[in-house]
Amino acid sequence: MRGFYDTLFAHPPTRAVFREGERPLREKTLRDWYLRTVAGPFNGQYFAWQALVGLVHVRRGVTNAMMASMWNWLTEQVAQRAHEALPPEEARAWKGPGGGSPSP
Ligand code: HEM
Repeated sequence: MRGFYDTLFAHPPTRAVFREGERPLREKTLRDWYLRTVAGPFNGQYFAWQALVGLVHVRRGVTNAMMASMWNWLTEQVAQRAHEALPPEEARAWKGPGGGSPSP
């Protein structure tokens, strides 16, 4: 959560989206989103919520490029941490998502 918002707060155009004092609340909603996303279930309620999550970002002026960049940041973090958690021989054998190597 810290890395996600450190990235957004370090870049003036994404920093400008946030209101004063909002960060703790945003870290909580992102954590809740992540836990539900990895735990499931992927049902109608989940996807209706994702439609709402999309709309709240549009309303706050978050661009598709900002969303796509942070989505990429998130999946790279998950891949890297999953890779680090593997036993050494499995880590060596793993080619990473899509067959490439994860970032060193
Ligand atoms: C992988 C990308 C992202 C995910 C998964 C994500 C997830 C979420 C979630 C779950 C919420 C709460 C929605 C609700 O009310 O239920 C939220 C709100 C918010 N997010 Fe994100 N977010 C992402 C990217 C971004 C980016 C790139 C920005 C800013 C540059 C951003 C700024 C905000 C703001 C300002 C809100 C509060 C919206 C409001 O209630 O007015 N998010 N986000």
